[in-house]
Amino acid sequence: MIIRSEELDEREEALIAVTRDAGELARDFFSKPIEVKLKGKQDYITEADGEVERMIVARLKARFPQDAFLGEEGGNQGSGPALWVIDPIDGTANFAHGIPHFCVSIAFMAGTELALGAIAAPMYGELYRARLGRGAFLNDRAMRVADAGIKQAVVELGWSSRRPVRAYTALVERILATGATFLRAGSGALGLAYVAAGRTHGYCELHINSWDTLAGLLMVREAGGWTNDFLGSDGLTRGNAVLACAPGLKEALVAATGVGQVNEKLERRIS
Ligand code: IPD
Repeated sequence: MIIRSEELDEREEALIAVTRDAGELARDFFSKPIEVKLKGKQDYITEADGEVERMIVARLKARFPQDAFLGEEGGNQGSGPALWVIDPIDGTANFAHGIPHFCVSIAFMAGTELALGAIAAPMYGELYRARLGRGAFLNDRAMRVADAGIKQAVVELGWSSRRPVRAYTALVERILATGATFLRAGSGALGLAYVAAGRTHGYCELHINSWDTLAGLLMVREAGGWTNDFLGSDGLTRGNAVLACAPGLKEALVAATGVGQVNEKLERRIS
């Protein structure tokens, strides 16, 4: 790894503390009336998003001034091999509508390696975290993905207006045809954390951004799950399709979704 183990220890400690505090700040905003705007079709922004991101960046910058930042609201700041990828509020539409299913999601990359991730779901009192090679935890409990047969599987299918509606409905049909069921709860980061925690068996979305996914992807891998190569083809800056699941479901879900196939013809066909 491009960064020394002690340097990663410091960042892990800072990550957990700032994610927890950012979750509490988001929770304060959730309990009062706030300004909500639309950035695009069904794509919300609230005053909380900017405030929470500014707090996270200020705290991390004060401690690690050389590090770079990629945030959903603030974009790119700085450059270099130590990069924080931040979603101040994931599940913004839920947040804006008073639905408590939202979270703060932060990942840390050391060069090309996804090294750390943390997610706070403040309304549930949950803090998820993972470190490369050292496992994934929900509060103090080690997480493990839950393998299930495809006919018992629950697969979350994320949706955004970045892909055509017919691509989403085709994906739903393909998943239902396998015998699995689907849900859409509106937070990609929590959707991935739920796979890691063994609450659901898979998460798929035809396009999602890196700030929504990186922390959760590391959690799924560290909890024994499989993920597609999200960071391939410029996933960090442009986003990508994502598929994460229990290992026993990989074959069926890759076939049904087209995500993660070496030959991705099917993915192109349904998107
Ligand atoms: C969105 C959520 C949603 C996913 C979208 C994301 P935001 O992020 O994660 O579940 O389906 O692709 O854009 O806007 O709530 O941060």
